[in-house]
Amino acid sequence: MSRQAIARALMVLGALSLLGALASALYGVVLVRKGFSARDEPSALETWAARALRRAPVPSRAVQLKNPLPSTPEVLAEARAHWADHCALCHANNGSGDTQLGRNMFPRAPDMRRPSTQDMSDGELYSVIQNGIRLTGMPAWGEPVEDDLQTWGLVAFIRHLPELTEEEAGMKELNPKSSHEQREQQLEEEFLNAPD
Ligand code: HEC
Repeated sequence: MSRQAIARALMVLGALSLLGALASALYGVVLVRKGFSARDEPSALETWAARALRRAPVPSRAVQLKNPLPSTPEVLAEARAHWADHCALCHANNGSGDTQLGRNMFPRAPDMRRPSTQDMSDGELYSVIQNGIRLTGMPAWGEPVEDDLQTWGLVAFIRHLPELTEEEAGMKELNPKSSHEQREQQLEEEFLNAPD
């Protein structure tokens, strides 16, 4: 390539990056003027960038892991109780993410019954539950051990979400109780156990 051609290519590149920088700055100005709210629907660009960034920290070795637990009724029942207690607050009992918290955080708690979650590998789901997702509401849950069976149980349960029955999703009694509900339950028990 001649010197001239190189200089021309560099100029085109320079112009393109300048345009890109201007466009980003403009987008930034628009966002700042409008103000930010976790209620806003994320733009397609934000959603794409967030999901792409999320994949990066999962080691490729971890992505290939297969769930060592079979989806037996016992495994699913235990994981369901765990889910109701720790996860349903954001992800909802049926995995739809349709909760006060899940709907209004940014990024949203996803509908885990859909392919965007179901197409993740066993290892990816495991890694997300163990390590959480930085810069989002998703906390890290796992114990730092080689094979956390409780987490693998949750992976089995997440795989089961698309065919969860109404009855299985009706796990309200397993959800954490507010202090108000606890008090009510206590009063009810006292009333029922009181001598006539
Ligand atoms: C405080 C809210 C909150 C709680 C509690 C929570 N999560 Fe999440 N979770 C999130 C949010 C928000 C995302 C989406 C993050 C994103 O889009 O990058 C998420 C994403 C996930 C994902 C990735 C799925 C996908 O398609 O993005 C899995 C798997 C998951 N959570 C499992 C669990 C499990 C299992 C529990 C309980 C042990 C749990 N979460 C508890 C907020 C929560």
